[in-house]
Amino acid sequence: MNLLNMKWISAAAILTGCFQVCAQETVDSVVKITGSDEFGSAGVSIYTPEIRENMKQLYEDKFGLFVHWGPYAQLEGIWDGEEVSAEWIMKRAFIPVEDYEREASGKFKPTKFNAADFVTIAENAGMRFIVITAKHHDGFAMYKSKHPYNLVDFAGYGRDVLKELAEACADRKMKLGFYYSQSQDWHEEGGFGNHWDFEGNLKPQEKFDAYFEDKAVMQVKELTRNYGDIFMVWFDTPVQMDDEKCRQMMDVVKENQPGALVNSRLGQGYGHFDVSMDNGKTPSVSKATWLPDLKVPWQTHESVTERGWGYTSYGGENDRSDEYADFIYALCRVVSNGGVYLLNVAPRPDGTIPESQVNSITAIGDWLKVNGESIYGADPSPLKFPPYAITSKPGKVFLQLKELEGNQVELKGLLSKVKKAYCLADPSQKALMFNQKNEHLSVTVPDELKQPHVTVIALELDDEIPQVVDETIQQGEGGSFDLPVAHCEYAVRRISYDYDAQTTRNWGGKTNQGLVWTVNVKTPGIFEVISEDNGDNKLSYELKTPSDMLVVYSKGTVGEITEKSVGTIRIDQPGVIRITAYPKDTISWFNDFRLKGIKLVPVE
Ligand code: GLC
Repeated sequence: MNLLNMKWISAAAILTGCFQVCAQETVDSVVKITGSDEFGSAGVSIYTPEIRENMKQLYEDKFGLFVHWGPYAQLEGIWDGEEVSAEWIMKRAFIPVEDYEREASGKFKPTKFNAADFVTIAENAGMRFIVITAKHHDGFAMYKSKHPYNLVDFAGYGRDVLKELAEACADRKMKLGFYYSQSQDWHEEGGFGNHWDFEGNLKPQEKFDAYFEDKAVMQVKELTRNYGDIFMVWFDTPVQMDDEKCRQMMDVVKENQPGALVNSRLGQGYGHFDVSMDNGKTPSVSKATWLPDLKVPWQTHESVTERGWGYTSYGGENDRSDEYADFIYALCRVVSNGGVYLLNVAPRPDGTIPESQVNSITAIGDWLKVNGESIYGADPSPLKFPPYAITSKPGKVFLQLKELEGNQVELKGLLSKVKKAYCLADPSQKALMFNQKNEHLSVTVPDELKQPHVTVIALELDDEIPQVVDETIQQGEGGSFDLPVAHCEYAVRRISYDYDAQTTRNWGGKTNQGLVWTVNVKTPGIFEVISEDNGDNKLSYELKTPSDMLVVYSKGTVGEITEKSVGTIRIDQPGVIRITAYPKDTISWFNDFRLKGIKLVPVE
């Protein structure tokens, strides 16, 4: 047994199951934590001093530019005259490698690419780092690689755009990360996913091993050796990634870039920070991955393009000025819940970023110039279930209000005494009138201080750490419990949430997608279970109390949220307990099922 394995096993043995303790230990290599993956602590690598430094930086920065760019842009989303897909076009239209090479990669010469422009665009958006696709699922390397299928050599373009970008970033102190699709590679016989040129999506082990070693590992070595300081490596779609392969990748990154942060899509619970599903949102604050002395944020990502992450003629040029407030507020919501946000742009095939996309992200930058104090380095909302976006800093709380109507801002649940309230956009910080009684706060915002998209009210408190009410769900009058999704925690981040409808989204794809309610039981008993959902009899979920379990088969008309009685469940003991709902018979990720909440009504 080599030293690395020994260290790993002994560390795992000492620390089994306890994330908080584990993370404090200093171990020399990657540690994978076994046990429950509730609340996102599925696994973690160790946090060396270099990693800690970048993790603090990530927590401070909050906001980065994601760039999806590759030869798929050349097709602009269209194949055979049909609108197909953006970066997934090769797979969606089953384009043979030969045709893709001829029509996409063979013609891809982004002559108008200007690295300095990319950096300027990110800076103007208030973004502090850039993560760009070095190789997406189509297998094309966007830089000078030993593998011939690359931008510099394949179509004879000659320029290494990633090198140019790395230099421009270094000049301007913009941090740079690479997205790398480690398993999925539709260009290679051994890569996962191309079943139309080669057989099957999953590849025979030896073939996948050879692809992984000769291309993926080799290219990640190139990317981590030849492009200066790398802030993060963002892996994606970890199919066929076993434990050993994940470890190997972690080691490659660590050896060449000791500080580079790896996201959780490497697979098998590895990585330094947890990434949600695409466009993933959560109803509550999550600090599950925080260590006692290091705030490890989770991350989510969205795009200012429509219909895909890469460029299409039909989704890449749209004017979205009506949605600037939504983009800004999305960032607020993420930070409010303890996350960091990657927002994607999709350059055209010639290398330019469409003006409409630039305008969308610049609107956020303009807002951040005035309101950045409530985002950069901010802690999440002190209320676990904030009614709107709220962030905090020692001694301060920031209320972020989207398109504020009227002049009264209400907040329920803050116990710390407010010393002063003012509008962050007001340079004179004129004190606003407010009224605080017990847990109720009401602040008056005059019209002239209301901001176009999101108004931020800063509250100065007489506590360093804001104190709030107990948010445990209490048993209601008549002994019933109201368990809205809006008041639950997600056990893993592979679920999304709809803030407007206050329902789950993309729930039911995996059995680990738990919803967790913390409730205070005064009067135990037997309860009738009422599920408030839009009915889809293909999904079932297990509702559990510490004393009982009920399998709920959802029913009703799909599309309409209705309340229906689905059975009974027992709670035997009083006290604070957790009630959970986990999918049982799973359905596709992209389903229409939505759960709004569950009610428990005592049965006589
Ligand atoms: C995905 C997709 C991909 C995109 C990415 C963005 O799962 O496969 O096209 O790059 O995630 O997060």
